[in-house]
Amino acid sequence: MIVDQSKRTFKNLRISLLNSCNFACIYCTDDENGTFPLENKNLSLSELLEIVKNLHTTLGLESVRLTGGEPLLYPQLEELIQGLNTIGIPQIKMTTNAFLLGKKALALKTAGLQELNISLDAAEDAAFFKMTRRDKLQEVLNGIDAALAANIIIKLNAVIMKGKNDDQILPLLHLAQQKEITIRFLEVMAMGHLHQQKEQYLFSQQEILDLIASKYQFEPLNRKTSATANYWKTKEGFTFGIIANTSQPFCHDCNRLRLDQEGNIYGCLSSNKPVNIKNKPTEEAFNDALLEALSHKQQVSFTGSNLSMLQIGG
Ligand code: GTP
Ligand code: 5AD
Ligand code: SF4
Repeated sequence: MIVDQSKRTFKNLRISLLNSCNFACIYCTDDENGTFPLENKNLSLSELLEIVKNLHTTLGLESVRLTGGEPLLYPQLEELIQGLNTIGIPQIKMTTNAFLLGKKALALKTAGLQELNISLDAAEDAAFFKMTRRDKLQEVLNGIDAALAANIIIKLNAVIMKGKNDDQILPLLHLAQQKEITIRFLEVMAMGHLHQQKEQYLFSQQEILDLIASKYQFEPLNRKTSATANYWKTKEGFTFGIIANTSQPFCHDCNRLRLDQEGNIYGCLSSNKPVNIKNKPTEEAFNDALLEALSHKQQVSFTGSNLSMLQIGG
């Protein structure tokens, strides 16, 4: 186990499987075609599993979350999930845009996937297109229904941008309530092309709560240690959350670390100093590289990054 100077442990590994995506969300990329890898330096499946196994030995991982880019585009996804199960990872989760989920949900559940966070930034077609630059709301809703039918635990993630989709908060809450799925609203983060212009789009936790209060009565729930989200329960018994990266940062008990498709470990979403962990021949060399990556973690708050979520994984 590794414990850092802020007494944080690292039990929650997020793997960015690839840096390409079939959507082109406006907070993630300014290229309407989406971003595709320039050069293939990707780990093979066996190299990836070897690194995860070594991380699990050193850290005692509690969960692995697969992200991207869009993880459903990863060609060996089922084999990877089976491999993570064989290593003994207790919880296997994924964050996806769900476009390809309709076809894949059951096979992923059978392979051992337990939980899905699904990005859904709008409940209406025009707003969905404005946010993702794709006319695919129906496919995403079908993906959500397929995952529910396969008995996968689901949460929805909606990034809220002022002037772009803040009018979708109540329709999204209504949709989530109808489907009995917990939804979290995300303050937009200063990543990638938004690095210098987030203030313009920030719709804060308080603004989100004020808007919801116009229609619902709700009470706060206790925050769980290391959680990204704060949660509330409505009078009708429906749970919603807010991930308040800017107005209420949660670095102090963050238990996350990140691995990308080239074998780089990032201690932090804010970190521009990844450390490559591939081909470390001894346990000592592997652990030294890991310690260096973790030493670049923020202590107080997310401070922005030139990297987009496509590269580092959300
Ligand atoms: P749960 O365990 O299901 O609560 O998942 P999660 O919230 O950790 O994962 P998800 O992939 O759904 O991430 C949702 C959002 O949380 C991201 O878009 C970020 O805004 C935020 N987030 C996730 N991990 C980090 C992190 O390590 N640092 C910061 N600052 N924000 C993060
Ligand atoms: N700010 C907040 N959330 C973001 N995501 C991607 N880019 C950003 C950003 N700049 C979200 C996705 C997904 C999660 C992993 O990250 O919508 O739900
Ligand atoms: Fe963790 Fe860094 Fe995110 Fe803070 S900014 S929550 S330390 S990854």
